[in-house]
Amino acid sequence: MLLVYWLGADVGLWLAMAFIKDAKLSFETRATLIKLAFYIDLFPRCTFALILPVGMQLARDLELYPIGDGLLAAAWTIGIAWSALHLAVVAFKGKPLAKTLLVVNKFYEAVAGLFFMTIGGLSLATGAPLEAGWFALKIFLFGSIFWIILGIDTVFQPFTTLLRMGPHGSTPEGEALVRRLTNKTMAWAVFMYVVVAAVAFLGRVKPFW
Ligand code: HEM
Repeated sequence: MLLVYWLGADVGLWLAMAFIKDAKLSFETRATLIKLAFYIDLFPRCTFALILPVGMQLARDLELYPIGDGLLAAAWTIGIAWSALHLAVVAFKGKPLAKTLLVVNKFYEAVAGLFFMTIGGLSLATGAPLEAGWFALKIFLFGSIFWIILGIDTVFQPFTTLLRMGPHGSTPEGEALVRRLTNKTMAWAVFMYVVVAAVAFLGRVKPFW
């Protein structure tokens, strides 16, 4: 369910970007699409946040790692708190609180990504702490998704670039920049979909080891 609501909404977001980069549309139309995109974006973000506790629940059932009640409770707390953070960022958009939460968000993405890539990578190399190879690779790729999202969020920012131009600030150079940044964002999004599909495939098929 979480995978479906994640990628389903992400397709809508991806298509919205194709319209947002179109300089033939009025600034108002593009700004409205950007506003809509921020709401649609809540689905991928919250589903990704909740996939960790759900995945840990599944891993516990399969006895892939001894996950105690405390660890599971921590995972659910983090998943729900991270979802609430995303909702608060949209609810308080433009306010200092939203800006602070965005910094917290990036910090968490960086740390969590590094943590899961380390656990997965270490397990692939040494067979511990995660014994099953498919699960170790899944966790490594899961960690890499945090960094792909972090990269998309920090490096490109086509929406902010467009909004900064304002209703009367459109120039050929500015539009070219928006197009370039949007194209890069869309390309990285496709790469992320491939990685997400691989993570799902590993969980469903458990192909090796
Ligand atoms: C990008 C994130 C993830 C996606 C898209 C994803 C997707 C999936 C899908 C589609 C399945 C197959 C479910 C089924 O057979 O009905 C699955 C299985 C599984 N996933 Fe994930 N998963 C993700 C992250 C995680 C994480 C972080 C964990 C653990 C911490 C995890 C643990 C598992 C386990 C243990 C299974 C096997 C369940 C079973 O066969 O009973 N997943 N995953």
